[in-house]
Amino acid sequence: MEVVLETKDLTKNYGEVIAVSKVSLRVEKSALFGLLGPNGSGKTTMIKMLTGQTSLTGGSATVLGIDVTRDPIGVRRQVGIIPEQETPPSFLTAIEYLKFVAAVRNIPDIETKADWWFDFLDFADKKNVLCKDLSRGTRQKLMFTQAFIHEPALALIDEPLINFDPIMQDVVKDYLSGYVRKGRTIFISTHILEVAEEICSGFAILHKGKLLHTGPVAELTGRNEHLPSFFLSLVRKDRNV
Ligand SMILES: Nc1ncnc2c1ncn2[C@@H]1O[C@H](COP(=O)(O)OP(=O)(O)OP(=O)(O)O)[C@@H](O)[C@H]1O
Ligand SMILES: [Mg+2]
Repeated sequence: MEVVLETKDLTKNYGEVIAVSKVSLRVEKSALFGLLGPNGSGKTTMIKMLTGQTSLTGGSATVLGIDVTRDPIGVRRQVGIIPEQETPPSFLTAIEYLKFVAAVRNIPDIETKADWWFDFLDFADKKNVLCKDLSRGTRQKLMFTQAFIHEPALALIDEPLINFDPIMQDVVKDYLSGYVRKGRTIFISTHILEVAEEICSGFAILHKGKLLHTGPVAELTGRNEHLPSFFLSLVRKDRNV
């Protein structure tokens, strides 16, 4: 199987704080991979390192065959990214923002593609509205659109379902599941363990920057175990060590 993302002893320190500590992970092509972990366990820091948004303190990471330390811009050019709590620029309209992204990413036929996304995520009425006047969920729809509009081989999303209503969560879950069936790969962080169990093929659990577990979801379900209870018992055990 083709490996799309691999880390070896990946480490990040912020001064005294060890945010990520010697994490070794492997994600194969066509996986929908979920990065799980309590608040402050290092998920966002991992995604930032994997997308060239912050430097590595130690170890290495390869994304789509590109070494993130050697060529962080090369990685960012190839992948789709939704950073944690990111919102589009307040002073552009929704369509202006997508045109801006298209210019940076050299995406052809942006008007047609954007219209498909406005319809698909049900926000065509907001096309010409300034981003500052969009609701949080609609801003997230726009962030989702910019991450996928160029159909990247790999998308990394920090909490994909945050701010979405139940109907939109359903639409997005279906989209993500269909996306990986087309041979592309998705790496998400999430706190919604039921969703991870439902849509993810593989997962990893971080706690205090350390990797507690990684493996296929089917391994758990095969032994009649559920991801939420597995997560809770593993993290609680580690807290008591
Ligand atoms: N820029 C920064 N400077 C200093 N410390 C940081 C910085 N960013 C993150 N940290 C610290 O690194 C650790 C990991 O944080 P991170 O944001 O990666 O966690 P997380 O798993 O994404 O948490 P959450 O579930 O709350 O989003 C925390 O202790 C956090 O305080
Ligand atoms: Mg985070």
